Amino acid sequence: MNAIAPIPPGDNALTAMADDLAGKGWARADGWFGAELCAALREDALARFMAEEDAPAGVGREGDFTLDRSVRQCRLAWLDGGDPAQSAFLARAEALRLELNRRLYLGLLEFEACYAFYPEGGYYGRHRDSFRGARNRVVSLVLYLNPEWDTDWGGQLIVYEDETPVSVDPAFASAVLMLSEETEHEVAETRHPRLAVAAWWRVNQTVVRETPLAAI
Ligand code: OGA
Ligand code: MN
Repeated sequence: MNAIAPIPPGDNALTAMADDLAGKGWARADGWFGAELCAALREDALARFMAEEDAPAGVGREGDFTLDRSVRQCRLAWLDGGDPAQSAFLARAEALRLELNRRLYLGLLEFEACYAFYPEGGYYGRHRDSFRGARNRVVSLVLYLNPEWDTDWGGQLIVYEDETPVSVDPAFASAVLMLSEETEHEVAETRHPRLAVAAWWRVNQTVVRETPLAAI
């Protein structure tokens, strides 16, 4: 997928990103996924949502899935790499994983990602993406796929730097990294349909082992 491979930010930008992530609990990663890739992802996401391959968003996943519309109002469609835009995205995310591990020794291992569509009136109340100490989701990534965004539309990501709210417009190809266990954030109610990729790196395996460890 050379056609949608972005120009990567230089070493200094990556170091600044890693420093912000470790120091402030979050960082902007705006240059990492290029505009062409984001356009392809948007098309793929809209096709998926139109085909209604998605499910209403809950809080948590699979076993601990509970649908709670009081805290989260959006629709999700999980990425499986089955589209060229998705595989290009997964490759870029993998390159970012290696850079973050190299700089921060996070030991990030697995990645999961979904498209998240917030209709008008959608929001996600203040939360962390992982329970502290669970070492489940370690670094969160959000990538915005909205061709234009007017601040008056709301829908901002509000990141809490300690208790100080910092507002990020979900503007095209903007991206944010957060420490999943540390950084509280919310999605302000949106007055315009809002599309993003929400993704996480984990340190544990999600696969349940059938073979006892002693037998390996
Ligand atoms: C999430 C989330 C933020 C955003 O999906 O967990 O916090 O800006 N998303 O979409
Ligand atoms: Mn979140």
